[in-house]
Amino acid sequence: MHGNECTARAHANIALIKYWGKRDQERNIPAVGSISMTLDALHTTTTLRFDESLSQDRLILNEEEATANQLNRVTSFLDLVRDRADLSIRAHIRSVNNFPTGAGLASSASGFAALTLAATGAAGLDLNREELSALARRGSGSAARSIFGGFVEMFPEKQIAAADSKEEQTDAFAVQLYDESYWDIRLLVLILSEEEKTYSSREGMTISADTSPYYNAWMETSPQDLAEMRDALQIRNFEKTVELSEYSCLKMHALTMSSRPGILYWQPGTLSVIHAVRDLRSQGIPAYFTIDAGPQVKVLCLPEQQEQIITALRDIPDVLEIIPAQPGPDAKILEDAP
Ligand code: PMV
Repeated sequence: MHGNECTARAHANIALIKYWGKRDQERNIPAVGSISMTLDALHTTTTLRFDESLSQDRLILNEEEATANQLNRVTSFLDLVRDRADLSIRAHIRSVNNFPTGAGLASSASGFAALTLAATGAAGLDLNREELSALARRGSGSAARSIFGGFVEMFPEKQIAAADSKEEQTDAFAVQLYDESYWDIRLLVLILSEEEKTYSSREGMTISADTSPYYNAWMETSPQDLAEMRDALQIRNFEKTVELSEYSCLKMHALTMSSRPGILYWQPGTLSVIHAVRDLRSQGIPAYFTIDAGPQVKVLCLPEQQEQIITALRDIPDVLEIIPAQPGPDAKILEDAP
């Protein structure tokens, strides 16, 4: 951190129990809780500098000038930071993902978590981790979880103790359940060839909440899923943890498919991998899948079976690359960055 410049790094996360739907669109509050694992292998590094000479924010994403939409989203987020710090200066932001760009991996979680740390650091704001998580949520719901490493739970409503106030208030933020050294389970990120996504997660969630006849059931059954996952993690029960995450994933996709219009995030390669994972299971190899709002499949397994599973999946047509990941660390400010 140097004066009005700060560099931060945050890791991507994948939800084991998914959220889908918002309770408050404006403040981006999720309708249900979620539980995720932060990934060591995938991260975003962001340097932000407040610069008096700029008349608007400037965003360089993976060494390329950002599109107007990407810039607008970042500017709206930075306005929240500027309001809080009583600043009006525009910022220069350079953000780099260490994972293949255009591979259809959601970078909004690591991206907005890194931006939260870099922007509040450069603005000289002193926020605790819960406040940072609540702020990151305004950029992207899943980013609230990427503030923390290991296994993380996001609460749609919880008491928050602000660093600069004695008053208790409620907000939606994540907390760490266990750090990254708690349990070595693996998540293999399969990069599949992708066609352009038709609905962003934000759009998809609105459509599902408005039209799916299953939306109420999704809301009603969420506390039970979260409770079961907390129990499974507490005793490091692998079978239960991964069975629950595959269940939560299929339940979320049933919700998108039962919306009007029906939203189908899967591609042919997605189904090929789903069946291959289930074939492995029928041969006694414990492998389970999870999928977010896109065609990419992530496979959960134990370290002992990782190589065997990679060998079985890498020759499936449409699988371009497999990135193995394990639980990763908290988002942090990189003190020695230039
Ligand atoms: O918060 P967003 O906009 O990144 O949406 C996340 C949606 C899912 O990845 C499908 C579920 C989740 O809990 O991460």
